[in-house]
Amino acid sequence: MRLLFLGDIVGRSGRQAVLEALPGLKRRYALDFVIINGENAAGGFGITESILQQLLDAGADAITLGNHAFDQKEALVFIERQERLIRPLNYPQGTPGRGAAHLKTAGGAEVLVINAMGRVFMPELDCPFRAIDAELTACRLKQGADAIVIDFHAEATSEKQALAYFVDGRASAVVGTHTHAPTADERVLPAGTAFISDVGMCGDYNSVLGMDVEEPINRFVTKIPRARFEPARGPAALSGLAIEIDDKTGLALRCSALRIGPNLEPAEPAFWLA
Ligand SMILES: [Fe+2]
Ligand SMILES: [Fe+2]
Repeated sequence: MRLLFLGDIVGRSGRQAVLEALPGLKRRYALDFVIINGENAAGGFGITESILQQLLDAGADAITLGNHAFDQKEALVFIERQERLIRPLNYPQGTPGRGAAHLKTAGGAEVLVINAMGRVFMPELDCPFRAIDAELTACRLKQGADAIVIDFHAEATSEKQALAYFVDGRASAVVGTHTHAPTADERVLPAGTAFISDVGMCGDYNSVLGMDVEEPINRFVTKIPRARFEPARGPAALSGLAIEIDDKTGLALRCSALRIGPNLEPAEPAFWLA
Protein backbone atom coordinates (compact mmCIF):
# COMPACT_ATOMS: atom_id res chain seq x y z
CA MET A 1 0.00 0.00 0.00
CA ARG A 2 1.24 3.44 -0.91
CA LEU A 3 0.25 6.03 1.63
CA LEU A 4 0.92 9.76 1.71
CA PHE A 5 0.56 11.91 4.81
CA LEU A 6 0.61 15.69 4.33
CA GLY A 7 1.28 18.06 7.26
CA ASP A 8 -0.94 20.79 8.67
CA ILE A 9 -2.56 22.87 5.93
CA VAL A 10 -2.21 26.54 6.90
CA GLY A 11 -4.71 29.00 5.46
CA ARG A 12 -5.66 29.78 1.89
CA SER A 13 -2.23 29.44 0.33
CA GLY A 14 -1.78 26.00 1.93
CA ARG A 15 -5.22 24.93 0.75
CA GLN A 16 -4.62 26.11 -2.79
CA ALA A 17 -1.31 24.29 -3.03
CA VAL A 18 -2.84 21.04 -1.78
CA LEU A 19 -5.94 21.28 -3.98
CA GLU A 20 -3.80 21.96 -7.06
CA ALA A 21 -1.16 19.31 -6.42
CA LEU A 22 -3.05 16.40 -4.89
CA PRO A 23 -4.74 14.90 -7.98
CA GLY A 24 -1.38 14.90 -9.82
CA LEU A 25 0.48 13.40 -6.84
CA LYS A 26 -2.08 10.60 -6.58
CA ARG A 27 -1.47 9.72 -10.23
CA ARG A 28 2.30 10.21 -10.18
CA TYR A 29 2.85 7.92 -7.21
CA ALA A 30 -0.20 5.65 -7.68
CA LEU A 31 -1.27 6.47 -4.12
CA ASP A 32 -3.73 4.18 -2.35
CA PHE A 33 -4.51 6.46 0.58
CA VAL A 34 -3.96 10.10 1.54
CA ILE A 35 -4.19 11.58 5.05
CA ILE A 36 -3.89 15.34 5.62
CA ASN A 37 -3.83 17.29 8.86
CA GLY A 38 -6.42 20.07 8.46
CA GLU A 39 -6.40 21.79 11.86
CA ASN A 40 -5.19 25.14 10.45
CA ALA A 41 -6.99 25.03 7.11
CA ALA A 42 -9.53 27.81 7.79
CA GLY A 43 -7.62 31.08 8.13
CA GLY A 44 -5.05 29.27 10.26
CA PHE A 45 -7.60 28.18 12.85
CA GLY A 46 -9.73 25.07 12.52
CA ILE A 47 -11.65 23.77 9.55
CA THR A 48 -15.06 24.44 7.98
CA GLU A 49 -17.27 21.86 6.32
CA SER A 50 -16.86 23.44 2.87
CA ILE A 51 -13.05 23.32 3.16
CA LEU A 52 -13.25 19.72 4.34
CA GLN A 53 -15.39 18.86 1.32
CA GLN A 54 -12.90 20.53 -1.08
CA LEU A 55 -10.07 18.44 0.36
CA LEU A 56 -12.06 15.22 0.10
CA ASP A 57 -13.08 16.10 -3.48
CA ALA A 58 -9.40 16.68 -4.36
CA GLY A 59 -8.60 13.14 -3.24
CA ALA A 60 -7.90 13.20 0.51
CA ASP A 61 -9.16 10.05 2.24
CA ALA A 62 -8.89 11.25 5.84
CA ILE A 63 -8.43 14.62 7.53
CA THR A 64 -6.93 14.73 11.01
CA LEU A 65 -6.96 17.59 13.52
CA GLY A 66 -5.25 18.76 16.70
CA ASN A 67 -5.45 21.52 19.29
CA HIS A 68 -7.23 23.77 16.76
CA ALA A 69 -9.89 21.11 15.97
CA PHE A 70 -12.84 23.18 17.14
CA ASP A 71 -11.63 26.75 16.51
CA GLN A 72 -14.40 26.97 13.89
CA LYS A 73 -17.42 26.26 16.09
CA GLU A 74 -19.39 24.67 13.23
CA ALA A 75 -16.96 21.74 13.45
CA LEU A 76 -18.63 20.70 16.73
CA VAL A 77 -21.73 19.93 14.68
CA PHE A 78 -20.58 18.77 11.25
CA ILE A 79 -17.85 16.47 12.59
CA GLU A 80 -20.64 14.10 13.66
CA ARG A 81 -21.69 13.48 10.05
CA GLN A 82 -18.20 13.53 8.49
CA GLU A 83 -16.74 10.09 9.06
CA ARG A 84 -13.42 11.01 7.38
CA LEU A 85 -12.73 13.86 9.84
CA ILE A 86 -10.84 12.72 12.92
CA ARG A 87 -10.12 14.75 16.07
CA PRO A 88 -7.76 13.82 18.90
CA LEU A 89 -8.76 10.57 20.58
CA ASN A 90 -7.85 11.74 24.07
CA TYR A 91 -10.29 14.65 24.37
CA PRO A 92 -12.69 14.28 27.32
CA GLN A 93 -15.43 11.68 26.97
CA GLY A 94 -18.46 13.13 25.21
CA THR A 95 -16.48 15.38 22.83
CA PRO A 96 -18.20 15.38 19.41
CA GLY A 97 -16.68 13.33 16.63
CA ARG A 98 -14.28 10.41 16.68
CA GLY A 99 -10.61 9.91 17.51
CA ALA A 100 -10.18 6.93 15.20
CA ALA A 101 -11.82 5.87 11.94
CA HIS A 102 -11.82 2.71 9.85
CA LEU A 103 -11.71 3.75 6.18
CA LYS A 104 -11.30 1.84 2.94
CA THR A 105 -8.87 2.36 0.06
CA ALA A 106 -10.15 2.22 -3.52
CA GLY A 107 -8.73 -1.32 -3.68
CA GLY A 108 -10.75 -2.40 -0.63
CA ALA A 109 -7.97 -2.46 1.98
CA GLU A 110 -8.89 -1.19 5.43
CA VAL A 111 -6.98 1.65 7.08
CA LEU A 112 -7.39 2.63 10.71
CA VAL A 113 -6.53 6.32 11.15
CA ILE A 114 -5.94 7.55 14.70
CA ASN A 115 -5.36 11.14 15.83
CA ALA A 116 -4.06 11.89 19.33
CA MET A 117 -2.57 14.87 21.10
CA GLY A 118 0.53 15.04 23.28
CA ARG A 119 0.45 16.61 26.75
CA VAL A 120 3.86 18.26 27.03
CA PHE A 121 3.44 22.05 26.50
CA MET A 122 -0.11 21.25 25.29
CA PRO A 123 -3.61 21.20 26.83
CA GLU A 124 -3.96 18.54 29.55
CA LEU A 125 -6.00 15.86 27.84
CA ASP A 126 -6.34 12.21 28.83
CA CYS A 127 -3.19 10.08 28.50
CA PRO A 128 -2.47 9.59 24.77
CA PHE A 129 -0.37 6.49 25.45
CA ARG A 130 -3.21 4.66 27.22
CA ALA A 131 -5.82 5.87 24.72
CA ILE A 132 -3.77 4.66 21.74
CA ASP A 133 -2.88 1.41 23.51
CA ALA A 134 -6.59 0.67 23.93
CA GLU A 135 -7.21 1.29 20.21
CA LEU A 136 -4.32 -0.93 19.16
CA THR A 137 -5.41 -3.67 21.54
CA ALA A 138 -8.90 -3.60 20.02
CA CYS A 139 -7.57 -3.47 16.44
CA ARG A 140 -4.49 -5.51 15.58
CA LEU A 141 -2.59 -5.15 12.32
CA LYS A 142 -3.88 -7.51 9.63
CA GLN A 143 -6.70 -8.63 11.92
CA GLY A 144 -8.71 -5.44 12.38
CA ALA A 145 -7.03 -3.36 9.65
CA ASP A 146 -4.53 -3.67 6.77
CA ALA A 147 -2.77 -0.49 7.88
CA ILE A 148 -2.84 1.65 11.03
CA VAL A 149 -1.62 5.25 10.90
CA ILE A 150 -1.34 7.50 13.93
CA ASP A 151 -1.17 11.30 13.61
CA PHE A 152 0.48 12.25 16.93
CA HIS A 153 -0.11 15.96 17.34
CA ALA A 154 2.43 17.11 19.89
CA GLU A 155 4.98 19.79 20.73
CA ALA A 156 7.76 17.80 22.39
CA THR A 157 9.99 15.66 20.22
CA SER A 158 10.67 13.36 23.21
CA GLU A 159 6.97 12.60 23.65
CA LYS A 160 6.61 11.87 19.93
CA GLN A 161 9.59 9.53 19.89
CA ALA A 162 8.43 7.75 23.07
CA LEU A 163 4.97 7.22 21.57
CA ALA A 164 6.45 5.88 18.34
CA TYR A 165 8.60 3.30 20.15
CA PHE A 166 5.63 2.48 22.45
CA VAL A 167 3.64 1.32 19.39
CA ASP A 168 6.55 0.04 17.26
CA GLY A 169 5.41 -3.12 15.49
CA ARG A 170 1.73 -2.49 16.26
CA ALA A 171 1.10 0.42 13.85
CA SER A 172 2.17 1.03 10.25
CA ALA A 173 3.23 4.62 10.95
CA VAL A 174 3.41 7.34 13.57
CA VAL A 175 3.52 10.78 11.96
CA GLY A 176 4.25 13.79 14.17
CA THR A 177 2.35 17.00 13.48
CA HIS A 178 1.81 20.42 15.16
CA THR A 179 5.21 22.12 15.04
CA HIS A 180 4.90 22.95 11.30
CA ALA A 181 8.65 22.48 10.77
CA PRO A 182 9.70 19.23 9.06
CA THR A 183 12.31 17.17 10.87
CA ALA A 184 14.95 15.09 9.07
CA ASP A 185 14.57 11.93 11.18
CA GLU A 186 12.13 9.88 9.10
CA ARG A 187 12.86 6.16 9.38
CA VAL A 188 11.36 2.74 9.91
CA LEU A 189 11.77 1.70 13.55
CA PRO A 190 13.19 -1.77 14.44
CA ALA A 191 9.81 -3.53 14.67
CA GLY A 192 8.45 -1.97 11.47
CA THR A 193 6.65 1.29 12.29
CA ALA A 194 7.47 4.26 10.05
CA PHE A 195 8.13 7.43 12.02
CA ILE A 196 8.91 11.13 11.67
CA SER A 197 9.02 13.54 14.63
CA ASP A 198 7.30 16.24 12.62
CA VAL A 199 6.09 16.10 9.06
CA GLY A 200 6.02 19.89 8.58
CA MET A 201 3.20 21.94 7.10
CA CYS A 202 1.53 22.71 3.80
CA GLY A 203 1.79 26.47 3.84
CA ASP A 204 3.92 29.50 3.06
CA TYR A 205 7.34 28.76 4.61
CA ASN A 206 8.29 32.43 4.31
CA SER A 207 6.53 32.88 7.66
CA VAL A 208 6.50 31.99 11.35
CA LEU A 209 4.74 28.59 11.46
CA GLY A 210 2.73 29.61 8.40
CA MET A 211 1.69 32.97 9.87
CA ASP A 212 2.67 36.38 8.57
CA VAL A 213 5.88 37.27 10.46
CA GLU A 214 4.90 40.74 11.69
CA GLU A 215 2.64 39.88 14.65
CA PRO A 216 4.72 36.97 15.96
CA ILE A 217 7.78 39.26 15.97
CA ASN A 218 5.78 41.99 17.68
CA ARG A 219 4.63 39.65 20.43
CA PHE A 220 8.13 38.36 21.12
CA VAL A 221 9.58 41.88 21.17
CA THR A 222 6.88 43.88 23.00
CA LYS A 223 4.84 41.17 24.81
CA ILE A 224 1.71 43.10 23.81
CA PRO A 225 -0.67 41.63 21.21
CA ARG A 226 -1.33 44.21 18.50
CA ALA A 227 -3.20 42.22 15.86
CA ARG A 228 -4.54 38.78 15.05
CA PHE A 229 -2.28 36.11 13.63
CA GLU A 230 -2.87 36.02 9.86
CA PRO A 231 -1.70 33.24 7.57
CA ALA A 232 1.16 34.32 5.30
CA ARG A 233 -0.08 34.88 1.73
CA GLY A 234 2.89 33.80 -0.36
CA PRO A 235 2.91 30.58 -2.35
CA ALA A 236 2.86 27.46 -0.22
CA ALA A 237 5.08 24.42 -0.21
CA LEU A 238 3.80 20.93 0.55
CA SER A 239 5.51 18.79 3.17
CA GLY A 240 4.64 15.19 3.82
CA LEU A 241 5.77 11.65 4.45
CA ALA A 242 5.50 8.92 1.80
CA ILE A 243 5.09 5.46 3.33
CA GLU A 244 5.14 2.09 1.63
CA ILE A 245 3.28 -0.51 3.67
CA ASP A 246 3.74 -4.28 3.32
CA ASP A 247 0.40 -5.81 2.30
CA LYS A 248 1.31 -9.04 4.11
CA THR A 249 2.21 -7.60 7.51
CA GLY A 250 0.73 -4.09 7.56
CA LEU A 251 4.14 -2.78 8.67
CA ALA A 252 6.20 -0.16 6.84
CA LEU A 253 8.78 -1.23 4.27
CA ARG A 254 10.22 2.27 3.74
CA CYS A 255 9.38 5.92 4.13
CA SER A 256 10.64 9.15 2.68
CA ALA A 257 9.96 12.86 2.97
CA LEU A 258 8.00 14.54 0.20
CA ARG A 259 8.66 18.28 -0.06
CA ILE A 260 7.57 20.37 -3.04
CA GLY A 261 7.44 24.13 -3.51
CA PRO A 262 9.17 27.38 -2.64
CA ASN A 263 11.33 28.13 0.43
CA LEU A 264 11.80 24.45 1.29
CA GLU A 265 14.50 22.03 0.21
CA PRO A 266 12.83 19.59 -2.23
CA ALA A 267 12.50 15.89 -1.43
CA GLU A 268 10.89 13.05 -3.31
CA PRO A 269 10.20 9.37 -2.52
CA ALA A 270 12.71 7.88 -4.97
CA PHE A 271 11.47 4.34 -4.31
CA TRP A 272 8.18 5.18 -6.03
CA LEU A 273 9.82 6.57 -9.16
CA ALA A 274 11.83 3.54 -10.29
FE1 LIG B 1 -0.96 22.98 13.15
FE1 LIG C 1 -1.48 22.17 16.46
